[in-house]
Amino acid sequence: MSAETLESVQELLNLEIAKVKALKAANACKDEYIPIIAALKDLKKRRDAFLKNVEDRVKFPVNREALESVAKRRFFFINGFEIYGGVAGLFDLGPPGCALKNNIVDTWRSHFVHRESMLELECSILTPYDVLKTSGHVDRFVDYMVTDVENGEAFRADHLLEDFLEKKLEATKDAETRKSLKNDLDNVESFTLAELGERLAFYDVKSPETGNALTEPVPFNLMFATSIGPSGNTPGFLRPETAQGIFVNFTRLLDYNASRMPFAAAQIGYSYRNEIAPRNALLRVREFQQAEIEHFVHPKRKDHPRFAEVADLEVDLFPWENQLGSREIVRTTFGAAVAEGVIDNQTLAYYLARTMLFMHSIGIVPEHLRFRQHMPTEMAHYASDCWDAEINTSYGWVEVAGHADRSCHDLTEHAKATNSKLVAYERFDEPRDVEVVEIDLNKKLIGKTHRGNAKHIFAHLAGLDDDAKLALANELTAAGAVTIASPVGDLELTADMATIATVTKRVSGESYTPAVIEPSFGIGRILYSVLEHTFYTRPDDEARAVLGFPIGIAPIKVALLPLSANAAFDPALADIRVLLEKARITFKVDASGAQIGRRYARSDEVGIPLAITVDFQTVDDNTVTLRERDSMTQVRASVADVVAAVGSLVMGLKSWETIRSELPHFSTATEE
Ligand code: ATP
Ligand code: GLY
Repeated sequence: MSAETLESVQELLNLEIAKVKALKAANACKDEYIPIIAALKDLKKRRDAFLKNVEDRVKFPVNREALESVAKRRFFFINGFEIYGGVAGLFDLGPPGCALKNNIVDTWRSHFVHRESMLELECSILTPYDVLKTSGHVDRFVDYMVTDVENGEAFRADHLLEDFLEKKLEATKDAETRKSLKNDLDNVESFTLAELGERLAFYDVKSPETGNALTEPVPFNLMFATSIGPSGNTPGFLRPETAQGIFVNFTRLLDYNASRMPFAAAQIGYSYRNEIAPRNALLRVREFQQAEIEHFVHPKRKDHPRFAEVADLEVDLFPWENQLGSREIVRTTFGAAVAEGVIDNQTLAYYLARTMLFMHSIGIVPEHLRFRQHMPTEMAHYASDCWDAEINTSYGWVEVAGHADRSCHDLTEHAKATNSKLVAYERFDEPRDVEVVEIDLNKKLIGKTHRGNAKHIFAHLAGLDDDAKLALANELTAAGAVTIASPVGDLELTADMATIATVTKRVSGESYTPAVIEPSFGIGRILYSVLEHTFYTRPDDEARAVLGFPIGIAPIKVALLPLSANAAFDPALADIRVLLEKARITFKVDASGAQIGRRYARSDEVGIPLAITVDFQTVDDNTVTLRERDSMTQVRASVADVVAAVGSLVMGLKSWETIRSELPHFSTATEE
C-alpha cells in the first residue's frame, strides 16, 4: 500500500462528503449517516495531522468568517462599548459566552483545584507599587513598541516583524532567502531590543496601512498605573498577573496547610495588561481572566507522587533546539521526556500532562495542541525550564497556558523586600551534624550607635543565608565596615559589632525557600480556541453551523421544543421543566412556531447538545424524543427515562451510544 499523502487523504475526505450528500438527496434514514460521519471525522483528523507534519506554520483550518459571524450574532462575545464605537482589547461576553466561560472555569477548578486538593484564594486586583517593583514588573514588564512617524499608530515591534517576515516568506521562492527569512522568523520571540531595531531597519519595515516610516523600537511597560486612595500618594497598578497575590500570602497558606510541603495554591481572577496592539479577537486583549497555580516544592526534590499516572501518556513536544533547526515536533511520552532530560522534572511534566488532559476534555483537537519549550534567551534569568501549551488556531499557534519553573526567585525577592521569612521547614528523619554560619552580635554597641534604627540592622542580618554571611565576614575583615541599605537610609556595620564564624551544630531539620512551579492559563484564549476547534458546518449544508461543545462545557444542555404553540403540550412541558430544574440542568425553551428542523439548527449554532421535542404522541403516551446534536440521531421514551438519560449524559456517566442502545430509536422523515 502506498504511503498516505495530503492529496490522497483529502481525496478520501471528499469522497465521504459526496456520500453524505447522496444520502441526503435520497432522504436516507439517520442511522445510515453514523458510520460515514465517523469516517469523516477520522479522515479530517488524519488530514489535519498531515498538514501539521508538513509545515508547522499551517494554521488551523476553520472558516473563521463564519465562526465569527455566529459568535457575534448569537452573542458569544462582542467588542466592549460597541455603541460608543468600541474599545480595542476590551470585550463583553453575552449569555452563551458567559455560560461557556463559567463552564470552562468550573471544569478547570474541578480538574486542578479539587482533584489535587489545592488551596484556592482570591486576592486584590489593585496592587501597591512596592509589590510589583519587587516582582520585577515595574522595571521589566515591557514589550517593544514602534510608532508610525506620521499618525502615531503604535505597533508591537516583534509582531510587526513577524507579520512582515511571514508575508515575505510566502512571496519568496529563492531557497537561500527563504532560509534566512525562516531563521529570523524562528528567532523573533527572543530578539533583544537592539536586534529588533536592527532587523526592522534591515528589512526596511514600514507602517503596514500607511507605508510611513516607523520610529526605533522602545520599551513600553504594559501595566495600568493608578493610585490607591484620594491623596494620590500611594501609587499602584491593576495587577498584570494573579500570581503575586499568592506569593505574598505564602506563610499563611503554609500555616493553613499545617506546614505540609509540597502544596499548591490556585487563583482564578482578572488581570490587566495595556497591550500595545490588541488583536485576534479574544486572543490578545487588555483585560482577561487568568487561572494560575503556584506549586511550592523543595528546590532539590521536584518528583511528583502521581507522576506514574501520566508517565505513559503521549504528547507533542517542541523542544527549543528544534525551533532553531528541524522545526520537528517530537511525539513522546511524559515519562521518556523526563528520563531523557527534555522536561526538567516530574512536577513540571505532571502539570503539562494534566493541562493536556484538561484541553482534550474541553474539546481542543489533540493534533492541534503542543507544548513549546522556551528558548534559553526567552526565559526569565531565574527560571530553569518553561513550556507553553500552544493551540493551533486560524491565527496560527497561540500560547494559552505557560508552565514555568520559577525556582525560588519570587519568595526570595519578597522576603528580602519585606524582611519576612518566606520559608518552609523540613524535619530530618534523624538529627544531623551540619556546618552553619553564625553571627554573634554586639547588640549593646549596635544599639548605642544606631539607637532606634538598630532593628533594621538586626532584620537585615537575620535574612542572610550562609553564603551571604560568609561574604559579609570577608568584607568586614577586608574593609573594617560595611554599609547596609535600610528603609531609613544607609547604616554602617563595623567589624567590632559582629563576629561571624562557621560552627558545627546538631540539628533536627532546616528551613529552606521553596521553589515554585507555575502553570498559568488564560481563560479567554482557551475559550476562543474551543470555539474554533468545535466549530463545523454540516457536510451537506455549508450554511448550517454547529458548535460541537463537549456536553460538560456546553452553555445550555437541552433545547426544549414543543412541536407548536398548542396548549395541549403545556402539561408535559411543565413536567419536563420541573425535572430539569431539579436536576440543575440548563435548558432553553424554543416555542417559536418555526419548523422543528429550523429550531434544531438554531440550537446547534449555540452548541446545545441535546433537544427534547414534545409532540402529539406525548399527549397520548407521555413519551418525548431526544435528539443528539452531532449525530442528529434520536431516541423516543417516556419523559422520566429521557430526563434520566439527559442527566447521565450531562454528568458524563453514559455516552450517546449507550443511551441509543438502551432506549428505542426514533427515526423521522423530518426536514433535517
Ligand atoms: P504573550 O507572549 O502571548 O503576550 P505571555 O507570555 O505574556 O503571552 P504570560 O505572561 O505567560 O503570557 O501569561 C499567562 C497566560 O495569560 C498566557 O498563557 C495567556 O493565556 C494569558 N494572557 C497573557 N496575555 C494575554 C492577553 N493580552 N490577552 C489574553 N490572554 C493573555
Ligand atoms: N503568572 C504568569 C504570568 O501571568 O505571566
